[in-house]
Amino acid sequence: MPFLLPMSVLETDDVSLVLAFGKLSVLEACTLLGRSVERAESPSERVAVLHVDHIDARRIAELAGVHKCAPLTSQPDSTEGDITALVDLMASYLDEKSNFSLSGYGLGEDDYEDLVRSLLDGLRGSGLRKVRLLRPRGDELLSEQVVSRHALDVVAFPYHGGYGLGPTAWVPDSASMRQRGTLRPVRHPDIALSPRLARTLVNLADLRPGQTLLDPFCGSGTILAEGLAKSLRCLGLDSSASRVQQARENLRWSAGGIADRGYDVRKGDARETSRLLRGTRVDAIVTEPVLLPRLDARPKTATARAMVEESAVIYNDALASMAESIGPDGRIVVVVPVVQTMDGDEVTLTLEGRKVGLRHYQPGPVGFEYPVRLSFESTRWVKRAVYVFEPR
Ligand SMILES: C[S@@+](CC[C@H](N)C(=O)[O-])C[C@H]1O[C@@H](n2cnc3c(N)ncnc32)[C@H](O)[C@@H]1O
Repeated sequence: MPFLLPMSVLETDDVSLVLAFGKLSVLEACTLLGRSVERAESPSERVAVLHVDHIDARRIAELAGVHKCAPLTSQPDSTEGDITALVDLMASYLDEKSNFSLSGYGLGEDDYEDLVRSLLDGLRGSGLRKVRLLRPRGDELLSEQVVSRHALDVVAFPYHGGYGLGPTAWVPDSASMRQRGTLRPVRHPDIALSPRLARTLVNLADLRPGQTLLDPFCGSGTILAEGLAKSLRCLGLDSSASRVQQARENLRWSAGGIADRGYDVRKGDARETSRLLRGTRVDAIVTEPVLLPRLDARPKTATARAMVEESAVIYNDALASMAESIGPDGRIVVVVPVVQTMDGDEVTLTLEGRKVGLRHYQPGPVGFEYPVRLSFESTRWVKRAVYVFEPR
């Protein structure tokens, strides 16, 4: 996983994250970093700041739902603030011919220009007269470009009346995530989620290699493929025989062409999960049922409510069976739809965990309200929200 600066720069009290999925990404980070996260702030929709105690940078390397991770090296309390600490840090990693960039998240144009100027002046003042400033389109150098252009990128965002600033120290391996999405034998962009989102959901279960992951609505197997990549034992169910075939094909490809290595996919109804597992319990269940009919336009609110209520019956029946199939320390991660209506409303599906002995998972001192919404999705009419449950 690409650390662009030594891991040790992330062993700090405040870490900023550029989020791929909004609040869901914060939940993932709080899950992987555990109780070391004391507090989380969201100064802009795209950025979170985690206040941490004894961070383990290796866990940062597991994140999938973030685009960049940067220590907060400068948090001036005025717009005129001091960026000396940041410039000093940058100067220690740059040489005369290096590229650097400023990625602004929620900054105004003038603020962006002022910051670029201050950084350039600061670096020149440190003797780096020829460092090259990359001017990204839209004020953001994307994480893959940071890697391909060998740039020292600075993340900047409005923070407590001034700016939060820090050098991008780590980015996820987006190229291999994209490859898993585009090269697998069966692709279903209409029903399948992206490998990045699937990995983020699997990370919410926080399993160790060798533990068992079940997706009882597995479709073409995107979630299970991410489980395999994390060395989990993967079980899949789907009520459609052709989907079972597709998932097997994709997983065989993921397992390097070896059939049934670390995975088992069968035809079956998710509402009968516990019967189909014959009493064995799994360590986590991660699934995205989405049982709505295909929508070609925003429906009326009343239509959306009727559709969601109808699918809620299967969701809740399946949840009851999942609750009987999960181990005492396990988690159940379920994606639910959020339908955008032509009346400007959002209709979402409510899962009743309490009735089946489940409670909402909370990763530590930072509290999350469920379902946790995803931001920045490209889908127009049906967005996503996520529940994470654990046994009570
Ligand atoms: C949205 S798709 C899942 C997509 C999957 N995440 C992927 O990456 O391809 C939902 C799947 O649930 C399956 N399904 C619908 N009702 C089911 C049921 N009662 N039990 C098991 N699977 C069901 C459908 O056949 C479909 O493949």
